Amino acid sequence: MDKESSRRASAVGWRSSRHHPYGRYRRPGPRPRPRDSQTGAAGEADRESGARDGRRARVRPRRAGDEAGSQRAAHEGNGERRVTEDLLFLDRAAVMACAADVDLCEATAWALGHHAEGATRMPAEGYLPWTNDAGGQCRSLAMLGAVEPPGGTPVRGVKIINAATTNPALGAERAGGVSLLFDQHTARPVLMAEAGWLSAARTAAYTMVSLRHLGPREWDALSVIGCGTLARAHLELLGTQFPQAKSVHLYDTDPERAADLAKWLGQHCPQLHPQIAPSARAAVGAARVVVTTTTVDTGFVPAAWLEPGTFVAHVSLSDLLPDAFVTAEAIYVDDVDLVAENPRRTLGALLRDGLVAAPGVTPRRGDATGEGAAVPEVNGTLGQVIAGRIEAVRPHRGHVISNPFGMAILDVALLEAVHQAALRRGTGQRLCLY
Ligand SMILES: NC(=O)c1ccc[n+]([C@@H]2O[C@H](COP(=O)([O-])OP(=O)(O)OC[C@H]3O[C@@H](n4cnc5c(N)ncnc54)[C@H](O)[C@@H]3O)[C@@H](O)[C@H]2O)c1
Repeated sequence: MDKESSRRASAVGWRSSRHHPYGRYRRPGPRPRPRDSQTGAAGEADRESGARDGRRARVRPRRAGDEAGSQRAAHEGNGERRVTEDLLFLDRAAVMACAADVDLCEATAWALGHHAEGATRMPAEGYLPWTNDAGGQCRSLAMLGAVEPPGGTPVRGVKIINAATTNPALGAERAGGVSLLFDQHTARPVLMAEAGWLSAARTAAYTMVSLRHLGPREWDALSVIGCGTLARAHLELLGTQFPQAKSVHLYDTDPERAADLAKWLGQHCPQLHPQIAPSARAAVGAARVVVTTTTVDTGFVPAAWLEPGTFVAHVSLSDLLPDAFVTAEAIYVDDVDLVAENPRRTLGALLRDGLVAAPGVTPRRGDATGEGAAVPEVNGTLGQVIAGRIEAVRPHRGHVISNPFGMAILDVALLEAVHQAALRRGTGQRLCLY
């Protein structure tokens, strides 16, 4: 690891948080009392559930603080453990309010570092696709994850995130769902939260951490290809993480979406000057940091479009053409196996076909005996860079690609940080299951 990476690793809290996993939102010990258990969070606590039938979840109009007390009793009362059937619910507004108290990049780096040390688990993702009446592609993803630091407090949960390609035409976000956190002792869900916003924010946080460790040392402009929900989440976080960013080049095949994002930037991130690019090629060539957030399943960005010194945060699945991977100066992922097992993404197909090798494998092109030309290798994971296990290669004469799969452990790590903030604030609505 270069000195700069080491310094950055510390700056994003991985090293310093090794023994105090959550830094300022550390989890162990009794759950914190809300600021004011008499008056706190009445507005959110009083909201009714959306459930409508006779078996609806019972909603007690109680304050989160009351339940923080009952949770403690569940675990500590008279030395006995009891099981409660209550859980805290956070809608999007509550998630966003609590996330404002959280350093999303630090929590992301914490989980990535533990992933590199083998202290995480992610069972196979559940994936259920179907086609709706309008011909839209729908899918449900169920993503379980656990971060289990040795000697530390584990965090476990699941994100259920569904999407329909026809949702944006209905004025709705493409993807949405809920996440749950599980109790360490009873295994009951203790928190349910709206997942769409945090899912986009965790993806953006991953990009910010990757950019800090693997991006060009100096840059002030960024290009975004695909101007939907993920693009907005990235630009929202960019301003707080990289104040040197001055201009953003936007491109979307739907010009209205690019125009909407430019307008939103003017209102919410006035320090970022938006420019709408006339083509994907123009956008890619306009900045040394390129973020792809489209929904394509066929690549369209060749290596020739990438200027020397470019860092590509390849967030979506298939924008880069194979030659961009094969000629890259370095390729980093979040988990090699997860990417390799997903042939829907270009890098997964290249790994499967032996045109790019997993770290340390070095197969040779066109010759099973190992006599042919060496193929390029994935350098490793961002977590390994953060943990100091592998070197950080920044773009120099060529381009560097970051291509994350999107890991459930990041969702649960960020959600736990949000959960702790909710308990501190007394935010949320208590649901009693029965
Ligand atoms: N790697 C990860 O961790 C991760 C996590 C979440 C989402 N994603 C991926 O991010 C992508 C974007 O998600 P979203 O929720 O923002 O979707 P979205 O539908 O809100 O936005 C996608 C945008 O891309 C545009 N687009 C489609 N094809 C294009 C092209 N060829 N050139 C330019 N623009 C194009 C669409 O018009 C749309 O505006 C999805 O592919 C999703 O699977 C990745």
